[in-house]
Order: sequence, then structure tokens, then C-alpha cells
Amino acid sequence: MSSKVPVLCLDGPSGSGKGTVGQICAQRLGWQYLDSGAIYRALAFSLREAGIDVADINSAVQQAAQLQVACLPDPNGAAKISINGVDTGQELRTEEIGELASQLASEPRIRDAMLAVQRRARRPPGLVADGRDMGTTVFPDATLKIFLTATPKIRARRRYKQLKLKGFDVNLAHLFQVIQDRDARDAQRRASPLIPADDAVTLDTTDLEITEVVSRVLDLLQPRLVHERAE
Ligand code: C5P
Repeated sequence: MSSKVPVLCLDGPSGSGKGTVGQICAQRLGWQYLDSGAIYRALAFSLREAGIDVADINSAVQQAAQLQVACLPDPNGAAKISINGVDTGQELRTEEIGELASQLASEPRIRDAMLAVQRRARRPPGLVADGRDMGTTVFPDATLKIFLTATPKIRARRRYKQLKLKGFDVNLAHLFQVIQDRDARDAQRRASPLIPADDAVTLDTTDLEITEVVSRVLDLLQPRLVHERAE
């Protein structure tokens, strides 16, 4: 019998559906949930609050080492995030914070410091982790690794809807460009780029409803869980 805490990794670019799918899966399974993008956003946010420039890598690494982030899944929206015990509202979800997070995330020393923050979320009975490098770097021994994709147009539309619902004033054409730029930076960086792990299953969600994606993911997970538990 394995004593390993099982992990379901959902990686992919912005708007591929990983956040929504991840939160529903976490709720169905009764598992912990890690929104790793929110961890990078939390770091960007706390640096801005402290008046520290994201280019000041030494200070950012120090801040990352002290960061305590908790994610509470909300299958009907974005996860609720608290930083060092204080709840954050929608401030983390702006494209401005996303952009700062992406700049920080391209720095290898910051990514290293964030590993411990993310791995602390691996607690029984299991963890659903969503991000860009969950399967390649953070949880290489995960039970199942899924890489979600969708066309850039659909991804921009989904982000547009999400941000509108949260009351943000957004422009679709501008968002399309911002997302393309951010994804290009995430995919081209040297440290843990946005790529599927060798053993990931890729799912194109362009024409799929969220419920279909969730069913496919859970159907893939169940036999692996049985196998892992028996090991
Ligand atoms: O997913 P979200 O848009 O919240 O992520 C914000 C940024 O954080 C991403 O654009 C990416 O640069 C970075 N990130 C990362 N690795 C992760 C999760 C997010 O580099 N595992």
C-alpha cells in the first residue's frame, strides 16, 4: 500500500479551463486545491503592497520564502486566496498583477523559492494542483498529469467573460493580445517553461463543456488511483 499523497496536475495556458476544472475536481474528490498562478500573483501583490520593485530579485526571493498562501476552491468562480492569513479580494485577478506575476515567474531563483510554498499544499487525502509546471517540475511523481489547451480566441473569450463577471472593465481585443504575450513569455522562458510533461495527457477543451472535461479527467484518474493505492 502506497502512503504517497495522490496529486492531480492540471497545466496549460491562460483560459484553457484548468482553474474551473481543477476546483470542481477538488470539490468532487474532497481534496486540497492549489491555484499556483495565485501563488505567483500573491507574491506580485505583496511586493507591490510593500513598495518593492519586481526587478529587485533578492527582496522578492526573501518575500517568497515568507509567503503563506491558502487556496479555498470555489467551483462557481475563482478560488479564494489568503496571504499570510489575510483574505484577498479580486485584486489578485487583474491583468496588471498577472503581468507582474509572469515577470517574476521567469526568474529561476524565484521559482526555486516558490517550490516549497507550493509543495506544502500536498496534504491528505490528495491534491489538485493547477498551473504551468505542476507536472514537469513541482509534482513530477503526480498520479495523473493533464495538459489543457484551447484555441487562443476561445481562451481570450473565456478570460473576458470571467473578468467581466468579476466587474472588471476589459476590452476583448486588448485581452487577446495581453494573453498571447503572457503565454509566449511563459512558454519561452528557460526556467520551467509552459510545456506538457512527457507523461501528460493533453486535452483540447475548445469544443468541450466544463462538465465533459471534468468527467474525462476523473475517468482517467480513477484507475490510476486504484493502481497507486495498491502499489
Ligand atoms: O494562472 P495565472 O494567470 O493566475 O498565472 C499568472 C502567471 O503566473 C502566469 O502567467 C505565469 O507566468 C505564472 N505561473 C507560473 N507557473 C505556475 C503558475 C503560474 O509561471 N505554475
